[in-house]
Amino acid sequence: MTQPFEIKYLKTQRKGGDAVLLTYSVENGLSSTGQKFDQTHGGFIAHALKHAQGWTGKVGEGLVLSLPPGYPYAQALIAGVGHSKALNGNAAQVAGGKIWPLLERSRAKHVVFLCDLPVMTAGPLLAGLRLRSYQFPKFKKPDAGPQLAMLDVVADKHTALAAADSAYTPEIRGVFFTRDLVNEPPNLIVPDMFAKQLRDTLKPLGVEIDIIDEKKMAKLGMGAILAVGQGSAHPPRLVVMRWNGAKGKKAPTLLVGKGVTFDTGGISIKPAAGMEEMKMDMGGAAAVAGAMMALALRKAKAHVVGIVALAENMPSGTAYRPADILHSLSGKTIEVLNTDAEGRLILADALTYGQRTYKPHTVIDLATLTGAMMMALGYEYCGAFVNQDKLWKDLNDAATASGEKLWRMPLDETWKKEMEGSITDLQNMGKNGRMAGACTAAGFLEHFIEDGTAWAHLDIAGTAWSKVDGALGPKHATGYGVRLLNRWVADTQE
Ligand code: BES
Ligand code: MN
Ligand code: ZN
Repeated sequence: MTQPFEIKYLKTQRKGGDAVLLTYSVENGLSSTGQKFDQTHGGFIAHALKHAQGWTGKVGEGLVLSLPPGYPYAQALIAGVGHSKALNGNAAQVAGGKIWPLLERSRAKHVVFLCDLPVMTAGPLLAGLRLRSYQFPKFKKPDAGPQLAMLDVVADKHTALAAADSAYTPEIRGVFFTRDLVNEPPNLIVPDMFAKQLRDTLKPLGVEIDIIDEKKMAKLGMGAILAVGQGSAHPPRLVVMRWNGAKGKKAPTLLVGKGVTFDTGGISIKPAAGMEEMKMDMGGAAAVAGAMMALALRKAKAHVVGIVALAENMPSGTAYRPADILHSLSGKTIEVLNTDAEGRLILADALTYGQRTYKPHTVIDLATLTGAMMMALGYEYCGAFVNQDKLWKDLNDAATASGEKLWRMPLDETWKKEMEGSITDLQNMGKNGRMAGACTAAGFLEHFIEDGTAWAHLDIAGTAWSKVDGALGPKHATGYGVRLLNRWVADTQE
């Protein structure tokens, strides 16, 4: 979906509005424009704040005050922003996100934000607010009653602020696209529909799209992704998205995403409890698609190829089985020991195809690859397996700037070796079972990375999906990865 409300940047207040939004910092109290506004209308807000129990103005604190006659608005919404000195970049974005529930609580349709924050702070603060306003109303009518439709941002530097804020729009639209794809139920976004949706959405933005179907896969020799998809009534797809934003013929960056539209585990079937969450197993593919959208919308001056491997992992009479031996596109044979370790199989063919066809200098893959990753880092940090220190440093800088946290995980010969088979080149599960499961999965993928290519594998199993109860309900897509990738491209590839 798109942002559910409109923003107008104004030099002075115009007529109309249900509520006025004012910021409050821990050290300075109510903003100075807020104080001026209050004084000209009788000082009710200052009085109310003095008696607000427990109010300190920390980030996330919010007050809805009903204003007496004489004020031009029915309500004042006071948003705590914490210590204003700490309010830079990502911290401002986080603070902005926490203002959204206050706006929702007020039920105001038209809010007037009297903003005297510096442009450097207000830009990311508003971006955070916009990111948090995401809704997924497709299958349920929104609650009856008013909700925000218009936000007036009144600021002295309103044109600079409008520019600062609109610079975030490509990224926000990319994040929303990713969330929409992940939140969609698995009956309505099988591989073919996923592929068409990427084509229909991204082609008009100038992204070149190729869709490789199961027949073409068979011709090319993609035995691994074909095996994963063969149990499903909906055959697999590979979608190639090319954004050629740089001048000349430089080698591109390759982004690869795992897109299992539903992961039942296949014949090695998963337990029933919680299986519905496996609709999020295409979070890597969705993040790559969202990143491509952000790059195209802001016309990034870089060559980036995105490839998503799409398949549905089902148990059926045609499904692949444990003990099957697959011929991957790379030429390497793989023994299947567990059909639930399907992500690495579809990624193997996508990685080989992408590197052979586009000769990238850097490959970054995103995948909801292992439960073990979740056990290790939970929902806050994404594990990053990186084969080059410079790439790790750059990614980590992008993580800090974007707030999408990364933690470096080890790549080691031990795990690479552990994935070698006894009667095949490789096997899809480690010899020590689930021990170091996230690391052995990375070790498997490492067999498909060409010598000299910088590579990062981001296991987003814990970060793609949020179980934190919030405005979106208890379980929802986060859109993790879009802001990280967009930041990394902007800072290192342009
Ligand atoms: N999609 C799952 C990993 C996953 C689990 C993502 C929970 C998000 C939340 C993946 O395909 C999987 O099933 N991995 C197995 C691998 C094992 C069989 C070697 C796992 O982690 O248990
Ligand atoms: Mn699985
Ligand atoms: Zn999976």
